[in-house]
Amino acid sequence: MATRETKLLQTGQLAQAAALLRAGKLVAIPTETVYGLAADALNPAAAAAIYAAKGRPSDNPLIVHVASVEEIPLLVRELPDALYRLAEAYWPGPMTVVLPKSERVPDETSGGLDTVAIRIPAHPVARELIRLAGTPLAAPSANLSGKPSPTCAQHCINDLSGRVDAILDGGPCGVGVESTVLTLCTNPPRILRPGAVTLEMLRKVLADIELDEAVFTHLADDQKAASPGMKYKHYAPKAKVVLVHGSSEQFRAFMADKQDAGALCFDEEEKGLCCRCVTYGNGQDAASQAQRLFDALRQLDTENFSLVYAHAAKEGGVGQAVYNRLLRAAGFEEIVLPVVEHGMPACVDL
Ligand code: TXA
Ligand code: MG
Repeated sequence: MATRETKLLQTGQLAQAAALLRAGKLVAIPTETVYGLAADALNPAAAAAIYAAKGRPSDNPLIVHVASVEEIPLLVRELPDALYRLAEAYWPGPMTVVLPKSERVPDETSGGLDTVAIRIPAHPVARELIRLAGTPLAAPSANLSGKPSPTCAQHCINDLSGRVDAILDGGPCGVGVESTVLTLCTNPPRILRPGAVTLEMLRKVLADIELDEAVFTHLADDQKAASPGMKYKHYAPKAKVVLVHGSSEQFRAFMADKQDAGALCFDEEEKGLCCRCVTYGNGQDAASQAQRLFDALRQLDTENFSLVYAHAAKEGGVGQAVYNRLLRAAGFEEIVLPVVEHGMPACVDL
């Protein structure tokens, strides 16, 4: 695609970012989950330009971001009571809800589907920008298609410089993994992508919710994905990644004879391993893992590993989302370690 000048904007320049959006331009913006590549969701040409900039398949729909619940009736054909209860509990925040779309939402935004995914982000910059732009913003994650989602402005610069009109630097994202996607178009409602609003949290509002099978299993090529994004290759670093389940001690023993491979491990494990490591947060703190994961996956590429063993975390809370992203980064290849005999130091401390 032809290159264009990409302005780097600061949060004091929201009026300029809003003017670009109103004019049908593309602006990468911070949200509390990951950076989004925003355009006017009601402008078909602007939405189409998002796909071109990201290299995204045109059947993978975009999330529409609004600043308040009052903007939603324009975008949907049905407003189930469940939506209001979910909104009351978890919006603004990292939750996206899929509903039957109205005619106002162009096919370019919905990827040709009859439904639309909607989210009210919690990030004050994102919400203020939606208000200033005066239109809902379509915004997929602001990465090149296939790469990990960006969690800081530098990731957006690396992926999208010369491909978008502006990148708005709002600092690092707090959550670090993308929003939970929940569809209200099935009965019972179904989680299509886990995020920081967990299954347990959603069940407090809607008793009957299920997890789509594609969240933790590999769909066969001929199986239809409920969420088109789930069938595409995602988050995969250049290196082959294998996901490894077991305690820190088991992981250390397993890695002892694998000096040529890299380890994606927890901060506190790095010192005990003999190989080159990239760390992704504290092993006991799923929120810190979520916040660091995508930066760590990007770092694996700069380290030029050919094989990486990734230590899987426990699955509680946002840990379920971390596990889902790691599974995809590993192409669903995982191993469970056997219990270690005592007295097997992985490397000698000098
Ligand atoms: O946290 C987030 O959700 C970020 C920020 C920027 O809001 N956005 C994001 O967008 O992750 P994206 O496009 O990278 O991921 C959206 C996912 C995709 O897997 C897409 O297939 C799915 O949501 N999706 C969007 N609209 C859908 C629909 N109508 N039905 C089913 N799945 C849908
Ligand atoms: Mg994405």
